[in-house]
Amino acid sequence: PLQKAADDAPEGSLAALRRQAQDCRACDLWKPATQTVFGEGPAHARVVVIGEQPGDQEDLAGKPFVGPAGQLFDRALGEAGVPRDKLYVTNTVKHFKFEPRGKMRLHKRANAEEQAACRRWLAAEIDRIRPGALVCLGAMAAHAVFGASFKLMEQRGQWIGLPDGRKAMATMHPSYLLRLPDPAARERAYADLVRDLSLITPELV
Ligand code: URA
Repeated sequence: PLQKAADDAPEGSLAALRRQAQDCRACDLWKPATQTVFGEGPAHARVVVIGEQPGDQEDLAGKPFVGPAGQLFDRALGEAGVPRDKLYVTNTVKHFKFEPRGKMRLHKRANAEEQAACRRWLAAEIDRIRPGALVCLGAMAAHAVFGASFKLMEQRGQWIGLPDGRKAMATMHPSYLLRLPDPAARERAYADLVRDLSLITPELV
């Protein structure tokens, strides 16, 4: 799916893409959002991590994974021994989507059209960075990379070869863990997340 989106991908360096993405009008999510949240990390990272979409805090900060999910992600990376500053961290969809509720902004999942409209940016980031490996956090990213038939809970936690020669792995999204009501289930899922992230070995980054 990414291969095809790369055909519409804009030209230019990663820095140029980042600037162009600020003015993206390919869907309507830009209107209520504060800003485009583009990926962040070394321009030639060997590993690109792909989340779903920015949340409230990412929208305000303009950076991916800085809110509660980002903090859990950082903790799990630390336990897995993976330095975040070596990774390029981005999202499948680059605008926060929400429903206003009083003073709050309630997160809403980007729909299929919004995901498709944004695919060009992810494809272009990967095209410019040329990483050896992709790590998908959650089903939205996994579907963007592997296609819609990917079953996250059956296929997570293993490297899978892609047609372009890269390898990719999917694991649970940290937000999924934060929503699990049972503390024991959350602990187990966290241990699985750390184990999956440990597959990002030092030779890969
Ligand atoms: N969840 C995501 O998928 N991405 C972010 O940047 C923050 C939360």
